Amino acid sequence: MTRQAGRCGKPTPASTAPKGSPRRSRTTRRKAKVVTAGTQGHFFPHGGGTKICPGRHFAKQEMMSSLAVFMNEFEVELVDKEAASRVGPNMGYFPTASLPPNSKIPVRVRRREH
Ligand code: HEM
Repeated sequence: MTRQAGRCGKPTPASTAPKGSPRRSRTTRRKAKVVTAGTQGHFFPHGGGTKICPGRHFAKQEMMSSLAVFMNEFEVELVDKEAASRVGPNMGYFPTASLPPNSKIPVRVRRREH
């Protein structure tokens, strides 16, 4: 096997990949295709495959604990439940890895009495 060197002189992933791995062969990599079948209409804020975000579980824990602290201190009530049930995601934000609602959802926020 010819060792391929990256720009910094270190071996490239192709030359260090285990035997039989598709990353080992340049020909195989050239034939690789992006497959999006089955992903349409779904939201992948953390990417996917070998490069999927390693911080996603930590981020989720942070979001859940922040929400728990907030909900422990405040009570949130929908002003119009019927109107709120018709609100969908604003797909214009899709490329930014966030998905806010496509219209305003009025809520009443009260500090809880402990
Ligand atoms: C809601 C919060 C987060 C979102 C939406 C997010 C999103 C992403 C996305 C889309 C990628 C690229 C994945 C791909 O190429 O397919 C990524 C990669 C990465 N994220 Fe996150 N991320 C979040 C939080 C975090 C946190 C909290 C950490 C670390 C503590 C983190 C560390 C990383 C790292 C190191 C990569 C590069 C992975 C690689 O190239 O192998 N992320 N993230």
